Amino acid sequence: MFRWAVAFAFALVSAIALAAAASWATLAKDEVHDPTAPMLGMLQEPRDALGQLAAKAPDTAGNLVSWMQALDAGQITPRTNIHPETIVKLRTTDVLLRNTGEMPMVRFPHRQHTAWLDCSNCHDQLFAQQAGATRINMMLILAGEKCGLCHGAVAFPLTECKRCHSVDRGSPEHAAFGKGIVREATQ
Ligand code: HEC
Ligand code: HEC
Ligand code: HEC
Repeated sequence: MFRWAVAFAFALVSAIALAAAASWATLAKDEVHDPTAPMLGMLQEPRDALGQLAAKAPDTAGNLVSWMQALDAGQITPRTNIHPETIVKLRTTDVLLRNTGEMPMVRFPHRQHTAWLDCSNCHDQLFAQQAGATRINMMLILAGEKCGLCHGAVAFPLTECKRCHSVDRGSPEHAAFGKGIVREATQ
């Protein structure tokens, strides 16, 4: 029963992702902007902005830009704070989430996330600051909670299973985690 529910939810997400895919729709056809608005021509078309980034940091999903690659390569330098008193904090630990059934395990990387986000975007309302303390599973994620609050919305879509489920059991990456931060298998 549970497995069917998960399979159905995946099918639904895939269908939505396929419908939303396509390269960059023009503003007149994106179903967000009013195509009859007289000032539409004043706005930059997505292909003009995203095309340049995608040329150097291409992606196969979402809006076809690898935002992590673009950031790491210095192609973009997003403003980290508006108020000067804000303390920008980075964290570099990875957490290994092992409760993934037959799928490879999930590596959650803090560095990549804190390059864009503040701790308070996730802690403590989405996740407690302790590996394994929070209930996370694929149904919640597909329902738009936990990782699914951003992935599929502002970050790469949930159809990209392998980007999260990236650590095979018994692989060198698994061994390299060693005594690192490993989430115990709790639901
Ligand atoms: C944004 C990251 C992310 C993506 C993308 C993702 N998953 Fe997951 N998945 C997770 C996390 C996190 C867990 C929970 C792991 C834990 O609790 O140890 C999980 C758990 C699971 C589980 C274990 C059972 C369950 O219901 O929790 C399965 C099976 C699974 N995912 C399949 C998939 C498949 C198939 C895809 C692609 C269609 C996918 N996942 C895409 C992050 C992701
Ligand atoms: C995108 C969401 C997100 C952001 C932003 C984030 N974290 Fe986390 N954090 C997580 C997740 C997911 C876990 C693992 C939770 C689990 O296993 O239940 C975690 C675990 C932790 C843990 C326990 C494991 C470890 O790394 O020691 C600490 C401590 C922590 N976070 C601190 C921080 C701090 C400090 C910041 C800001 C510099 C931050 N986090 C930013 C999602 C985030
Ligand atoms: C608050 C928003 C937010 C949440 C919650 C969140 N992410 Fe992300 N994640 C991002 C953003 C933004 C990026 C960078 C843009 C992209 O790669 O699409 C990212 C990137 C990633 C990457 C790619 C890193 C790389 O090197 O390319 C992985 C893997 C990932 N997230 C896994 C997870 C997992 C697993 C969870 C849940 C445990 C999670 N994320 C929760 C926003 C979030």
